[in-house]
Amino acid sequence: MAMLPTGVTVVSASGPDGPAGATANAVCSLSIEPMLMLACLDRGSRTLLAVQAANHFGVSVLHAGQEPIARAFATKAPVADKWDGVGWSERDGIPAIDDALLWIACDLRDVIAAGDHVIVTGEVRDLEGGKGDPLVFSGGGYRPLG
Ligand SMILES: Cc1cc2nc3c(=O)[nH]c(=O)nc-3n(C[C@H](O)[C@H](O)[C@H](O)COP(=O)(O)O)c2cc1C
Repeated sequence: MAMLPTGVTVVSASGPDGPAGATANAVCSLSIEPMLMLACLDRGSRTLLAVQAANHFGVSVLHAGQEPIARAFATKAPVADKWDGVGWSERDGIPAIDDALLWIACDLRDVIAAGDHVIVTGEVRDLEGGKGDPLVFSGGGYRPLG
């Protein structure tokens, strides 16, 4: 599946231990009417716990210059430490990465167990585009587009 090129996002929520976020590429648009998003999170993801506790989640789609953020959020560093040195702000109660290519805020709708992952769907309540080229994950590495 590493051969399937995808965008790179940080899925985030405000959890009991503060802001939580994970690098995720299993994220996509699900429905237009109503507008729904889908993300697949590992059962062991601390971000999944935060999403379920908060009943919402955010998706920051990263631009090509945000590879260090993708690397930072793909670790098991203490949840709050991941945000150190990263520009972020709380938007409608959801932690958001500054200057992302796209910001999507969702109210949690469905939580569906699927193997060792959990599919979460959310109703889009805010959507804002930024600037730049997308960061792409393909062939097991981060690549700029083109
Ligand atoms: C490019 C990339 C894409 C990833 N996509 C996902 C994903 O879609 N879902 C997921 O659960 N983990 C994904 N991961 C792994 C998580 O980022 C990683 O397990 C992280 O440590 C989870 O953090 P958390 O426990 O604080 O939520 C991805 C990692 C990388 C490098």
